[in-house]
Amino acid sequence: MEAIVRNTAEEAASLTAAVIAKALQSNPHLVLGLATGRTMEAVYTILVRMHEEGGLDFSQATTFNLDEYVGIPADHPGSYRHYMNEHLFRHVNIDPRRTHLPNGMARDIETECRQYEERIRNCGGIDLQLLGIGRSGHIGFNEPLSALRSRTREKALTQRTIEQNAALFGGPDQMPRWAITMGVGTILECRRCILLVTGREKADIVAKAVEGPITSMISATALQLHPNCTVVLDHDAALHLQQRDYYDWVFENEPHWAEFRRP
Ligand code: F6R
Repeated sequence: MEAIVRNTAEEAASLTAAVIAKALQSNPHLVLGLATGRTMEAVYTILVRMHEEGGLDFSQATTFNLDEYVGIPADHPGSYRHYMNEHLFRHVNIDPRRTHLPNGMARDIETECRQYEERIRNCGGIDLQLLGIGRSGHIGFNEPLSALRSRTREKALTQRTIEQNAALFGGPDQMPRWAITMGVGTILECRRCILLVTGREKADIVAKAVEGPITSMISATALQLHPNCTVVLDHDAALHLQQRDYYDWVFENEPHWAEFRRP
């Protein structure tokens, strides 16, 4: 794992977007794993700008989102399909048929989960997976006690997650209680992961995720097992990291980061 700290949330999002853009330029057929949430909005804004101003080409790319709420139609403003359409898909030249999210309205959720895994496999697996972290330590919706080898499945949301995400549903009472999420095992199979974390309110949980012991109570700690995972933080999110000087030194001296060093 590598940890990279940038001064501001915007610089952290820019670095994340630059990594995605470079992956897409080197491989136009990239299979890109996507996340939703407030943290990712800045990344998608930058990618849309790169498409509009620099011609970043999504036409051959395939995407798989981490998760979707159960029982919420795609056109509901709280659905993740709606989020992705609004923040990215309708602004770039991606083929909508190559954008995948779990179908939270499926009659048979178990079959839907199994088929989602098959779709990922049939596309050759995910090349680069974008991740955020919830205050409960989840990646995707892998809430505490998610098995570290879990696959795509239905998962009950914690009260904390419900409160964190309730705004788009008009309050916690209207929030769905269940979601379909890629499992921790599914995420660990992606060839590369990039976890973006910004804001002081995430400082405690991300320090546990990066420097604490691996535990299913904090599914993000499983990323320590991943052979190619980068955590990008802003200054506020990095406040509780113990080894910050070492991470900074590595970033400044690793040749493969040379082209990304200046914000
Ligand atoms: C959403 C997802 C979640 C979020 C996390 C952070 O697709 O996978 O794990 O990344 O809940 O959300 P924000 O950025 O809203 O704090």
